[in-house]
Amino acid sequence: MTHSIAVIPGDGIGTEVMPEGLRCVRRAAELFGIGLSFEEFDFASAAYWSKHGQMLPDNWFDTLKDFDALYFGAVGWPETVPDHVSLWGSLLQFRRGFDQYVSLRPVRLLPGVPAPLAGRVPGDIDFVVVRENTEGEYSDIGGRIFEGTDREAVVQQTVMTRTGVDRIVRYAYELAERRGKHLTSATKSNGISYSMPYWDERVAALGAAHPDVRVDKFHIDILSAHFVLHPDWFDVVVASNLFGDILSDLGPACTGTIGVAPSGNINPGGAHPSLFEPVHGSAPDIAGQGIANPVGQIWAGAMMLDHLGHADAAAAIVDAFERVLARGEVRTPDLGGTATCTELGREIAAAITAE
Ligand code: NAD
Ligand code: IPM
Ligand code: MN
Repeated sequence: MTHSIAVIPGDGIGTEVMPEGLRCVRRAAELFGIGLSFEEFDFASAAYWSKHGQMLPDNWFDTLKDFDALYFGAVGWPETVPDHVSLWGSLLQFRRGFDQYVSLRPVRLLPGVPAPLAGRVPGDIDFVVVRENTEGEYSDIGGRIFEGTDREAVVQQTVMTRTGVDRIVRYAYELAERRGKHLTSATKSNGISYSMPYWDERVAALGAAHPDVRVDKFHIDILSAHFVLHPDWFDVVVASNLFGDILSDLGPACTGTIGVAPSGNINPGGAHPSLFEPVHGSAPDIAGQGIANPVGQIWAGAMMLDHLGHADAAAAIVDAFERVLARGEVRTPDLGGTATCTELGREIAAAITAE
């Protein structure tokens, strides 16, 4: 059986880390006898937008819907196309169109990565952010009125549906059952008077089915502080779209670099393909220099193999980058070294074994 994978490198360092992700995924597939076929697409990029005046072809849904998984780099090049245009025109369409309602973002302090938080060692930081990925604060409902006058006003709606909140919270409880049986919910029900109290209510109600999961909740402001001061407190953290976005950059920053952070945009029922990408963006500030850390893309590739049913191959990739990072000889600049993206990618691919 061959799994078909759509490869979408995107912009900036997306095009630099993708070859290293593919190198490692291909190597693991070879060692574990997994059949993979790849097809690469140039859309979801500023170059495509410059040529076509849109980020995706009109038939993007039909073009991608029958792939077993989508492997994505990063999109965004604000010099050429405004960010809300490029993101709403591509990545956010994939997440919503393919109903990838779970954004799964593991956060782990890796051996050999210099920890910015004093005294923290691998094992201290090991949690997963479960981010709602299709609704919430990310909505295209709103508008501007009286533009250009002193009555100018802008409204941006947050939408939380019972289905949308329940399914992400349920997913998080089930994940907590399989991990450390501890769920933390990110809220802001003191200042946001409709959506967040509703979120809290659903978290409490759904907890009845999981009496052995310890649940706590923190307002997003103090939760951010606890991520820095007590990252060892967390196991599974469930959050709305915007809060989850913020926490999933903050968490990896507490482990040394966002360059290692992976993400799965999961459609749990499997009716549509899931999408795997690093958490980071296109990093225009370092793009073209060949110095991006490829580990986030490589780890996302491992998550993709795991999702496709190959937990052994996924574990072999994770084991390989952990050993390479622990040795500390080949490090990109964000890890304090001088290695290139390709050098680190090659080193990791060579370290993958089927034992
Ligand atoms: P970013 O994640 O691209 O970069 C933030 C900082 O982290 C930069 O200093 C960058 O150099 C550094 N960094 C990021 N990834 C790195 C890596 N692999 N190795 C080493 N350093 C790394 O965030 P930004 O600057 O806010 O956004 C840049 C563009 O990317 C924008 O257009 C934004 O909208 C877009 N973006 C896209 C995604 C995505 O495709 N999922 C995610 C975030 C941002
Ligand atoms: C992410 C990114 C996106 C998000 C942006 C680029 C729209 O920051 O994947 O974390 O906010 O979801
Ligand atoms: Mn983000």
